[in-house]
Amino acid sequence: MQATACAYSNIAFIKYWGNRDHALRLPANPSLSMNLGGLFTRTTVRFSADLAADCATVDGQALQGASLARVSAHLDYARRLAGCALRAEVISHNNFPAGAGIASSASAFAALSLAAAAALGLELSERELSAYARLGSGSAARSVPNGFVVWHTGEDHASSYAESIAPADHWQLTDLIAIISTAHKAIGSTEGHQLAETSPLQAARVATTPSRLAECIQAVLSRDFERLARLVELDSDMMHAVMQTSTPPLLYWLPPTVAVMHRVRALRAEGVGVCYTIDAGANVHCLCLPESVERVRAELLAIQGVQEVRAAQAGSAAWLER
Ligand code: DP6
Repeated sequence: MQATACAYSNIAFIKYWGNRDHALRLPANPSLSMNLGGLFTRTTVRFSADLAADCATVDGQALQGASLARVSAHLDYARRLAGCALRAEVISHNNFPAGAGIASSASAFAALSLAAAAALGLELSERELSAYARLGSGSAARSVPNGFVVWHTGEDHASSYAESIAPADHWQLTDLIAIISTAHKAIGSTEGHQLAETSPLQAARVATTPSRLAECIQAVLSRDFERLARLVELDSDMMHAVMQTSTPPLLYWLPPTVAVMHRVRALRAEGVGVCYTIDAGANVHCLCLPESVERVRAELLAIQGVQEVRAAQAGSAAWLER
């Protein structure tokens, strides 16, 4: 009873921040993302009567305490569905360095969900698999389907899932990730989601997300970069406004983060196809049109405080290794 699955990380164009239901990870608002081809987690799950307890390693390091409990609780859901009480061994590797400032919970829980379901012989639809992945990490719901993906808010567990709006080869966008800090963040996203409602700006952000999402879907479908750029930066800025006005306030930006934001805006004013978006950290994701990639990479590397630049193109759905 063993299976191996892989899933790409993703970057949100319209952000998930705050939950209506923290236990089920039902989000406060819908979101839209692009899978990051090349940046993936590969996970093997083995259920066995020989194991007295669940155990897990990530890049060779054994998980303990809260992180092991999170994996174990996630496996419980699949065990309940399958009517199986066996404990599991989870072996997981990221092909990007841990602490490189690239979100790994999305790819990790998408790969874990697919591997666990397959190992137990569960035949879940993509929608069911996405909803299952969401229970482990909200953004993991979006790493299950192919390419450009919308995660519907939903009303309950079954209706809060992600689906593809366009395959990975629909649009050759490149995400150049300007790595500014690899330090572990003081407040991670799980804790951050719980603070969102303390910001007086969250209600306004949530109320206006559906219209930004609708416009962003149109921009992706019609490959309208100018429109996409305006929406992606606005949505990221609105999420960071909420973070910065929460109690306690969360300021993820460092001085080089702001330097990159200014540089990206100046380049776009010159006609270079690039825009920025930032998650719960200091690194900046710069979305580029193909013809802009080399220019933007050189410009980013010239900014003081940018340690390195990683590139990813739109990636496909999560997959099983046979
Ligand atoms: C800022 O999915 O990492 O990256 O459900 O607690 O694991 P948990 O949160 P997570 O939150 C992602 C927040 C974000 C925005 C986004 O990816 O939409």
